[in-house]
Amino acid sequence: MTWNTSIAARILRVNHGGEHGAISIYSAQIGAARLRAPDLLPFLNEALAHERSHRARFRALMPTRHGKPCRMMWIWAVGGAALGLISGVLGREAILACTEAVERTVHRHLDDQIRWASDEELRRLIQDIQIEEESHIDYAVAQRKGRGFGWLRHAIAWATETLIWLSTRGDSERLARQLAAGAHV
Ligand SMILES: [Fe+2]
Ligand SMILES: [Fe+2]
Repeated sequence: MTWNTSIAARILRVNHGGEHGAISIYSAQIGAARLRAPDLLPFLNEALAHERSHRARFRALMPTRHGKPCRMMWIWAVGGAALGLISGVLGREAILACTEAVERTVHRHLDDQIRWASDEELRRLIQDIQIEEESHIDYAVAQRKGRGFGWLRHAIAWATETLIWLSTRGDSERLARQLAAGAHV
């Protein structure tokens, strides 16, 4: 495995795990929203379908880049379900605050990757997926009635970063530093 393929493989691993977490979040929120916020169900179902296709598309690039899913997928499943359930139980505004916080955190990571990736196919895929992630942020921002739950947004942004760090055992941070230092995929 060359150094270059190794960076592509690491990007794929963290992104694939993140999509797995997003699937858990939206799945848990859909359960809670049936009672707490039925008007959000069409959006939540559509977002869930997007996240499933994102996970499959990152997975599909792994074999040619010697990549493997992260070994800590359960962390994403458990963490995502917890975030989805907590926000779901708190109701409509909290669900939207959660979407905004998670998607903004993901967006920042994808931005860094797009800036530095020279693996064309991977970069195009990330750009493509980012368009749908942006639509999730836009919906959440447009639908929120106020700017409440600021504490929840901060807590969830922190939890998302922590999940990313834990699942990669710190590799996400090293990767970001290498990308910023000019390492190319
Ligand atoms: Fe996604
Ligand atoms: Fe998303």
